[in-house]
Amino acid sequence: MPDSPFTFVIPAPGAIPSRVDNHIQRRLSAMQGQFLDQVAYAKMLSESDRLIYEVYEIQRPQIEGELLMGISIVHPGKVGQEFYMTKGHFHTVLETSEVYYCLQGEGYMVMETPEGETSVESLAPGKVLYVPPRWAHRSVCSSRQQDLITFFIYPGNAGHDYGTIEQLGFRKLVIEGENGIEIIDNPRYQAR
Ligand SMILES: [Fe+2]
Repeated sequence: MPDSPFTFVIPAPGAIPSRVDNHIQRRLSAMQGQFLDQVAYAKMLSESDRLIYEVYEIQRPQIEGELLMGISIVHPGKVGQEFYMTKGHFHTVLETSEVYYCLQGEGYMVMETPEGETSVESLAPGKVLYVPPRWAHRSVCSSRQQDLITFFIYPGNAGHDYGTIEQLGFRKLVIEGENGIEIIDNPRYQAR
């Protein structure tokens, strides 16, 4: 891993960085237990293991002082009424933050703290979102046609805690209701 300055390009459209060290693809099967409508989930999964989101990482040492960057692409689609989304995570080092810069699409960042504060911020091209320390975060693509594409940057020592969200879920969900996009309380949320 070179320790000299480097550049890369995030071309539009598509936004696949010109430098990529790791490409993660998360399919429906990796989202077990996350979507509200488990019947719709099982039915979809029996048909095909669809691609839900992708992450392109620029790797750096995972230590304090470094910054980790990449591109997140959440594809359009729904499971039941619920939009495609990322698994979402807390940082293992809870007192670390993250910046997201939205490049393309429409969506939301669903966030919460261990103490139960919640926030859901809309994302649109050009919008920068600062996720403070302690806030778990999940991206949701609410467009019917377009990918939600964000550039992210976070401290090298942050780490990912996916397990807490896998067990508890998020307190808030983004769904398509009868009157359009709705942010609702998650009826399946498991209290700590
Ligand atoms: Fe993060």
